[in-house]
Amino acid sequence: MTEREILLVQQSWSRVENHLNELGERFYESLFEMEPQFQNLFKNDSKKQSVKFIHFMTILVSKLHEEAKSDQDLQALAKRHHAYRVEEAYFAKFGVVLMKTLEEFFQTEWTEELRLAWQNAFVQISGRMVQYM
Ligand code: HEM
Repeated sequence: MTEREILLVQQSWSRVENHLNELGERFYESLFEMEPQFQNLFKNDSKKQSVKFIHFMTILVSKLHEEAKSDQDLQALAKRHHAYRVEEAYFAKFGVVLMKTLEEFFQTEWTEELRLAWQNAFVQISGRMVQYM
């Protein structure tokens, strides 16, 4: 990712900060609507799950420029996802839903440049997760 892309992703995430719970819940609603086959992978309450996911995303977004430091947490997260029976191919679908959720949130502020920056961020994060699974 370029410095500018990292900045765009971090700035946009900070604008979401007061709406993180809402974003997380909307994300899981859309995930189960668009990819109903994923629902049976999730055993726990989706509200709690969405808080955990968003919290982890906040950490990853804040560390986009210092990949190595977030590696241990990411490695452990990846291993847990292996145990949840998450497969490599699921990430692309998950990413599409995340992007759609962000697009809905940002509406007219969702520019092509922001979309590309987020796409690259997701590719970077999920690529590393898959590598550790
Ligand atoms: C950017 C990528 C992702 C991040 C940051 C992420 C983050 C998280 C976090 C923080 C948890 C909470 C439990 C834990 O820490 O182990 C979790 C659980 C889980 N995630 Fe992910 N996840 C990602 C991608 C995916 C994908 C692609 C799938 C596949 C559909 C998935 C399926 C699950 C499942 C099944 C659980 C367990 C939920 C439960 O026990 O009910 N995740 N994820």
